Amino acid sequence: MKTYFLSFFLLVATLSWLNAQNTLYLHLDEEGAKINKEIYGHFSEHLGTCIYEGIYVGEDSDIPNIDGYRTDVVEALKEMKVAVLRWPGGCFADTYHWKDGIGPKEERPSIVNVHWGGVTEDNSFGTHEFLNFCELIGTEPYLSINVGSGTVREAAEWVEYVTSSNESPMTELRKKNGREDPWDVKFWGIGNETWGCGGDMRPEYYADVYRQFAGYVRGRGFQKIAVGPSGSDYNWTEKFMQGMSGKTHLAQGLSLHYYTLPTGNWGAKGSSTDFGEEMYFKTIRNTLNVEEYIVNHIKIMDQYDRRKQIMLAVDEWGTWYDPLPGSNPGFLQQQNSMRDAMVAGSNLNIFNNHADRVSMANIAQIVNVLQSVILTKKEQMVLTPTYYIFKMYNVHQDAQLVPSSIASEKYTYEGESIPAINASSSIKDGVLSITLCNLNPNKSVSIDCNFPGGEFKSATGKIVTSENINDYNDFGQNEKVTMSDFKVGKPSKGKLNVEIPAHSVVLVQLMP
Ligand code: AHR
Repeated sequence: MKTYFLSFFLLVATLSWLNAQNTLYLHLDEEGAKINKEIYGHFSEHLGTCIYEGIYVGEDSDIPNIDGYRTDVVEALKEMKVAVLRWPGGCFADTYHWKDGIGPKEERPSIVNVHWGGVTEDNSFGTHEFLNFCELIGTEPYLSINVGSGTVREAAEWVEYVTSSNESPMTELRKKNGREDPWDVKFWGIGNETWGCGGDMRPEYYADVYRQFAGYVRGRGFQKIAVGPSGSDYNWTEKFMQGMSGKTHLAQGLSLHYYTLPTGNWGAKGSSTDFGEEMYFKTIRNTLNVEEYIVNHIKIMDQYDRRKQIMLAVDEWGTWYDPLPGSNPGFLQQQNSMRDAMVAGSNLNIFNNHADRVSMANIAQIVNVLQSVILTKKEQMVLTPTYYIFKMYNVHQDAQLVPSSIASEKYTYEGESIPAINASSSIKDGVLSITLCNLNPNKSVSIDCNFPGGEFKSATGKIVTSENINDYNDFGQNEKVTMSDFKVGKPSKGKLNVEIPAHSVVLVQLMP
């Protein structure tokens, strides 16, 4: 009996020791997919102060600008590296008629932005202003075509106006408006949320509409992205893919939209700054669901697209909180705290790890709306915690994923648990980059990183962290959340131990 108890005790002790052993195992001998730089994409909609005030203030503004684009924002975005930028929406895209936004500004008609606050849109920021902005900050443009209230002809003419080098009425018009050469636009979204604000369609119907539009949105190397599901709407994916039977070559991508709401409820979503551990835990738990959605949607897609040609584009993701008190609720303004940094780091790790099928992701939205990387107030600008995550993670852009397996201790809150650590790794020019998140707000964690066969002589590190999970950067104050150097040891015999402080995101780079 005594021996039995002793063995049982030893077994329990060993199991809990094993559970406490946080290990990241990097399979350097396996070839991972390329992490498309477009996973580090953003989204800019005519919504609130994203475009006007946030990006574009006009040439006559007192705010320093380059051809009307805020100089501070341009510089910050260049530094962070925006891989692709989606425009003009969102819901706005399906109310947008591109010809309203070209030609002399004083002749452009004004419209009402029906989805976002009912404000007047004067169309002073249109196709030229957007595509020139992309050239200025060095990013790929991603245009979202109006399917909900637009026509096939309007879409085909936009493509011709933007990308054609032939002589045609549309290219003549472009030249008359000051642009001789076509722009290089590869990414075309055919509609947005056609199951909702983009036309309230059924998936079967949208599949037919998609096929019709896609046939006229033509160009060399175009990547056409169809409207996909929201969150776990597997029925949409199934029915849409069924409708594409025999025509899957018409789509190169299917979108997925998933917003992280702390409460999981579209009514009272939760505050962006005023929250405790319960809301922190729920936000993180909810955000991690994206991995399950990615895996399940891809499984469905692959049943209809055996050659796996249609990739997943998570072209709207991020946190969505209650609007800031006193702000226009239609402007979707929120603060961005250390919690958002944890959300961003975890999502980007997940997207990297699924780089074989996730070709693009666009956080919503780039400036002043939802989980922004930049906030502006008149002439002031703030770089958010999410900005620093994107800046830290840009080492993964177009790098080769290193497949990995992880064993992590749990982070438990009131009886519910999630893995405390998540990670992703890539290699580029012989440098191994590992990004790690410690989601636990209460304790640091120690993890053994193993990379057998990897000859690395030295390591450097960066960290994004702060004292409290609800710390954020505010106008006119010193930054509370930023990126700084992080001390790591020397790799030895294919191993490196990393101690990650509570609620922190770290980058470790190993040099040959
Ligand atoms: O990003 C805000 C809105 O969220 C977008 O306009 C829409 O596509 C989504 O519902």
